[in-house]
Amino acid sequence: MSSESAESAEGGNVAEPAKPAKPAKPAKPAEPAGAGKPGEPAKPGDAAMSAEQPGVGRRSFLRGMAGGVAGGVAGGVVVGGIAGAAGGYALRGSGTGIDPAAAANLAELEGRLPAVPFHGKHQAGILPTPKAATAVISFSATAESRAELIELFQTVTDRARFLTAGGMPPPAGIAGPSTDSGTLGPTVVPDGLTVTFGVGSTLFDDRYGLASQLPAHLTQMTSFPNDNLDPAQCGGDLILQLTAGNEDVVLHALRDIAKNTRGGMQANWRIHGFSSPARPPGTVPRNQLGFMDGIANPSVTSAAQMNELVWVRPGAQGEPSWTAGGSYIVVRLIRMFVEFWDRVDVYEQQLMFGRYRDSGYPLDADGIYATPDYATDPEGDVIPLTAHIRLANPRTAQTANQRILRRAWNYDRGLDQVGDLDVGLIFTCFQQDIQRQFVQVQTRLIGEPLVDYISPFGGGYFLALPGVVDSSDYFGRALFA
Ligand code: HEM
Repeated sequence: MSSESAESAEGGNVAEPAKPAKPAKPAKPAEPAGAGKPGEPAKPGDAAMSAEQPGVGRRSFLRGMAGGVAGGVAGGVVVGGIAGAAGGYALRGSGTGIDPAAAANLAELEGRLPAVPFHGKHQAGILPTPKAATAVISFSATAESRAELIELFQTVTDRARFLTAGGMPPPAGIAGPSTDSGTLGPTVVPDGLTVTFGVGSTLFDDRYGLASQLPAHLTQMTSFPNDNLDPAQCGGDLILQLTAGNEDVVLHALRDIAKNTRGGMQANWRIHGFSSPARPPGTVPRNQLGFMDGIANPSVTSAAQMNELVWVRPGAQGEPSWTAGGSYIVVRLIRMFVEFWDRVDVYEQQLMFGRYRDSGYPLDADGIYATPDYATDPEGDVIPLTAHIRLANPRTAQTANQRILRRAWNYDRGLDQVGDLDVGLIFTCFQQDIQRQFVQVQTRLIGEPLVDYISPFGGGYFLALPGVVDSSDYFGRALFA
């Protein structure tokens, strides 16, 4: 039995869980019932911050800082940009000991994730495994000219650069509103925040003179047979995905970006999601159907695989040159009918996915990352031919270049109108070519047994822009060149 490597953006392998008792060989599945249905952290005075406060000079900044230290940052918890990036926050000893209030905060602060370097050839939020909190927000561009659109992209860049590095917000001007919402306290913590920024096909209409720059594989999202798409929750000129270790950090970043881009873009739809700790530890987080989600993926530590499957390559046929280094994102908002799912026996559930619920092992194997062996099971006696994993990735030479990099979060939006739980999956995937990859996979999944328990209602197709390479670069610079 061959085995695929555990994926980890951080490069670490995931330990295999203890082997559970293996149930008897599963029988063929029943017919689906009822089918039809930094580098450098921002410092006060950096471009990212002074752009906000053009009139604030260094002297007035220092005045504000002094007030902050005395009043807000009890005992002198200081963020060092570098210290922040390295994981931390240092308590500056007063000489007589540590302020108890600051000490009380320390554990919490240390639990927060270090900064993820913002600058790079590719956007930093694409490869990492899901962090605890995410938000996906679609916007319409409301900039009135191409020049204003460029300004918008520069502002998003500046805010993302600051927020992902963390640091002290600049002081407010005299009688002006605060430069920061304050929801993270006096200092903005990075907490592993990533800001992924993308464009939809509608941005390339006649408003900004971008029609000739439309990425080769960017279209409106197709509706598939089981979809129940709500136009109000689909598409958008622009997309932002924010992820971090905590929900407050995600929401803080969203408020900051929205406030600073008012007039340039207007939110259309938004969804927040969470990824739980892996249970048992060392495995993979679960979705709301109880199954581990995100086991089988291309290896993000293999540059060859990422170049083959995820990144738009320089000189790719039909692609405008500015897209090189970007990646197409598909977002699918998928409701789960958990009340119905919870009435299905686990054995049946496992046949629908092709994996064991408790261990995550494929039904024909005894390791979480073991490769299912479809060649020795041509009739689907062990892993049904209709199983989700078998349809999604038949593991043949012909389908190898259709693989996608999946990133999924759970969402919980309370109750629907009849009192059922409105929960589901924020499915995202990254790829080089939406038609060659996502569309092929989704087409194979049409009519799978799982469709009775899920309902895709929103999302869209976007291109995640190439990365911002350094402090003089900005999102989409090559697009507007
Ligand atoms: C609510 C909807 C969905 C649920 C609950 C779900 C759940 C799962 C689960 C439990 C697995 C097995 C564990 C793993 O390898 O991560 C899996 C694998 C997979 N899913 Fe989904 N999925 C959903 C939607 C989708 C969609 C929309 C696509 C793409 C069109 C997709 C593509 C895949 C692929 C490619 C795999 C890996 C198969 C392999 O390489 O063995 N899934 N999914």
